[in-house]
Amino acid sequence: ESTTELDISTLEAGQSIKAVFRKQPVFVRHLTQREIDEANAVNVSSLRDPATLQERTLEGHENILVVMGVCTHLGCVPLGAAEGEPKGEFDGYFCPCHGSSYDTAARIRKGPAPLNLEVPPYEFSTDTTIVIG
Ligand code: FES
Repeated sequence: ESTTELDISTLEAGQSIKAVFRKQPVFVRHLTQREIDEANAVNVSSLRDPATLQERTLEGHENILVVMGVCTHLGCVPLGAAEGEPKGEFDGYFCPCHGSSYDTAARIRKGPAPLNLEVPPYEFSTDTTIVIG
């Protein structure tokens, strides 16, 4: 099976799902308005791996963030999805291996990781169903 289908109908703002895509962890978060505002308040040109939240989500579903749960430094699984609350000083994900912090759009903000958490290919097959891959 090369795709992963996820029902997000019960995923409320402020909640995350940790799933598996091609044997790797994938995080799906229903962002809160505060998290969206925080992501949009950042000066994108100041980022190590510049991208807007809009560019990292799908049109009409900008409050759903889908990223691989694989740190872009050396591949550890960051904290912040399974724990039920954001982690790290930028309110997104935190990699405990060497201290990389990602923001609410899962963009790298601090630590050794070179790139944002990767957004995998995905689409909505219904308003509440995501197909990854
Ligand atoms: Fe995540 Fe090194 S593997 S900071």
